[in-house]
Amino acid sequence: MARIAVVGSGYVGLTTGACLARLGHSVTCADVDVDKVARLRGGGLPVHEPDLDGIVASACAAGRLRFTDDPAAGVDGAEFVYLCLPTPRRADGSDDLSSVTTAARTIGPHLEPGAVVVTKSTVPVGPSHRVVEALGRADVAVVSNPEFLCEGAAVADFLRPDRVVVGSTDRSAARRVAALHAPDGVPVVLTDPVSAETTKYVSNAFLATRLSFCNGIAALCEAVGDDVDDVLCGMGHDRRIGHDFLRPGPGWGGSCFPKETDALLAIAADHGFDFRLLRHAVEANREQFDRVVDKVTALAGGSVAGVRIAAWGLTFKADTDDLRGSPATEIVRRLADAGATVCAYDPTVRRPPRGLDVEIADDPYAACEGARFLVVLTEWDELRDADLGKVAELLAARNVVDARNLLDRDELRRLGFTYRGIGRS
Ligand code: UGA
Repeated sequence: MARIAVVGSGYVGLTTGACLARLGHSVTCADVDVDKVARLRGGGLPVHEPDLDGIVASACAAGRLRFTDDPAAGVDGAEFVYLCLPTPRRADGSDDLSSVTTAARTIGPHLEPGAVVVTKSTVPVGPSHRVVEALGRADVAVVSNPEFLCEGAAVADFLRPDRVVVGSTDRSAARRVAALHAPDGVPVVLTDPVSAETTKYVSNAFLATRLSFCNGIAALCEAVGDDVDDVLCGMGHDRRIGHDFLRPGPGWGGSCFPKETDALLAIAADHGFDFRLLRHAVEANREQFDRVVDKVTALAGGSVAGVRIAAWGLTFKADTDDLRGSPATEIVRRLADAGATVCAYDPTVRRPPRGLDVEIADDPYAACEGARFLVVLTEWDELRDADLGKVAELLAARNVVDARNLLDRDELRRLGFTYRGIGRS
């Protein structure tokens, strides 16, 4: 079992550290955020991620997981050091690597001779040389090991990955990194660093494109009077297509798809390639937000000005508290900008997100009181199972725009609702 340090204790770093400890390694998670580290030491998690709290607690109790706010001390004695740091998007669309390079400069002098540094942060294709330069250590191998964790399923994705991709000019270091956590039988792709980083970007870009295509099918179904559920079911049974990522919705979002599709377009453009298919997938996604707003506006008779609307869900998908790049908040913003009063309920949101003109309700029913429309934006199970009879009583008018096709439309119709889903005629 290896001695491992993980620098950065956000959702990727914490999941990586806790799961490596669960596999039996001895792990130190470091973060410069003193408050976050204090909270972690007290058993609190900075992110909402199913199953992660239990894994963190048992790894800490077993003495295999500890936290420090001093990254330089955290890497002391570590054979492997994971960099799991944010790479936010700058105003010009490029990724800001300063957290990664600052951390590399900090830990460089403190690394054990022959240590292996593993970059998990999603970094623009080709910058591993910047990490190497910032580390300033010729005796240390740098390996790119992109993460493919889905928020809300990160623990399962780490412990049972579909594949492990490791890129390095040092094949032996790459093999050692794969051996740390790749379960038996899982495909391991050993490659160069640039190909590993590209694999991460194109996987997300492909899934985002697939969803834009899927939302396009939904719009087509509405136009011709088909039912998207049957069409996608029939399509997904083709083994070459499969059923995953075929749920139409309000558009795709999150901290990864929007940022990485933009970054891939920029990388392509920098190299003289206009990736038109991907550009259109990104444009189609913005149109999908419009489509949801248009459904509400049309039902309201052409304007939502002065109309009270209940919104169910604010996070970018269920089982996360992440609001970054959320289609739900974007749609709420557009409705509020058009003059509506929006009251939202989300199981993980207790106060209005900064800059969003929205009231926050304590439960799904309180959000509905006196509203003329219910708009479903995130697919929380709690909302799927809501008492629709009670909702009907509380609303001032029985109108539902279900941007996740979450609710039972037959039941809603029985209750006298006017129902609009996505791709359902
Ligand atoms: C995504 C990738 O799926 C992960 O493999 C990757 O590791 C991660 O980004 C990352 O780069 O770190 P995540 O951002 O957690 O994971 O979210 P997804 O589950 O992929 O969902 C992305 C968006 O697509 C969400 O807005 C979601 O609601 C939407 N979606 C997803 C649909 O509208 N329909 C679907 O069928 C699936």
